[in-house]
Amino acid sequence: MSPITSTVVTGIGELVTNDPSAGEGPLGIVNDAALVVDDGTVAWVGPATDAPAADRRVDVEGRAVLPGFVDSHSHLVFAGERSAEFEARMSGVPYDGGGIASTVRATRDADDDTLRRRVKALLAEMRAQGTTTVEIKSGYGLTVDDEARALRIAREFTQETTFLGAHVVPPEYSGRVDEYVELVTGPMLQACSPHARWIDVFCEPGSPHAFDGDASRAVLQAGQEAGLELRVHGNQLSYGPGVLLAVEHGAASVDHCTFLDDEDVAALVGSSTVATLLPGVEFSTRQPYPDARRLIDAGVTVALATDCNPGTCFTSSMPICTALAVREMRMTPVEAVWAATEGAAKSLRRKDIGHLRVGARADLAVLEAPSYRHLAYRPGVPLTRTLEIPS
Ligand code: NIG
Ligand code: FE
Repeated sequence: MSPITSTVVTGIGELVTNDPSAGEGPLGIVNDAALVVDDGTVAWVGPATDAPAADRRVDVEGRAVLPGFVDSHSHLVFAGERSAEFEARMSGVPYDGGGIASTVRATRDADDDTLRRRVKALLAEMRAQGTTTVEIKSGYGLTVDDEARALRIAREFTQETTFLGAHVVPPEYSGRVDEYVELVTGPMLQACSPHARWIDVFCEPGSPHAFDGDASRAVLQAGQEAGLELRVHGNQLSYGPGVLLAVEHGAASVDHCTFLDDEDVAALVGSSTVATLLPGVEFSTRQPYPDARRLIDAGVTVALATDCNPGTCFTSSMPICTALAVREMRMTPVEAVWAATEGAAKSLRRKDIGHLRVGARADLAVLEAPSYRHLAYRPGVPLTRTLEIPS
């Protein structure tokens, strides 16, 4: 028997291609569509009536098909959980990053297999909800060995690994921020860079635990010199220098963007830096949501991601983040779907994912619904799954 190389997916009630030249509107929607997958790649897209023959046929019976979600911001390598901190927050205790230390303790104490099992379980949750690409950060080890270990484990699952040794200053360096930054930019970076594509820093001068503008600049510059590409946690808890630093250094993404002044927005417009919004964080910390409309209306490229982590947002669900983006940040359903797919792909500087043009990776999500609109229209309902195409 000859191996199956091509599959035609038929019965697609609504296909989101993110290719405006292939269909209607910014999502490039094709109704009554078909799509041919050849060797893991999109080989043809168009109306079902014109579909070419293929070795195999998968009929999705009128459902909507989308590019798989791209979750461009997650912290999956950790042990333990912080539901008590969440409960305290819901009673009014504000988030300041201090709880990260307890996850650092639990993570250092865990063996490799415990961490690996956790990553695997969270990725399975993500996949079950339509996510096909995940970025994973370190940041709960904060020693040379524990950070390198986190990145080695993350690399078993994704190429999109991010060194976040500059997550917080660990307790043993309390009051010695400069020495910790020397460790991060020296031996830790050296041990971690072989396992990472990206470097990130929690730039939040108002937090007693995170890093100010000068420290963040030192981390980004050292990472860049070591050949890593840049991402920044910026402007999450207060106004600050994160966005401007990210733009100035050509970072691919600045994430959170909850507190922005006019200068921040102006700097993002026309820059190569994507603003990644993480509405699950505001949901789980009871902070105000970022002003997505202001960014989009100014022309900034916006992405959505979960930020899945045990502190500020323990959801693995891109569908719930798109629903929050629509309901709470006034993004249109079209904008939210684009931001969770192509926008997030841009934040990872990836051209092969986030859309379904010919040549893209055949990463497909299918909805138990006729339209992408149901993602926000039916929040919390498990409508989305990945569509596995045998190769
Ligand atoms: O993206 N802000 C910094 N880091 C994470 C939270 C990590 C934690 O609280 O464990 C975030 O929100
Ligand atoms: Fe984060």
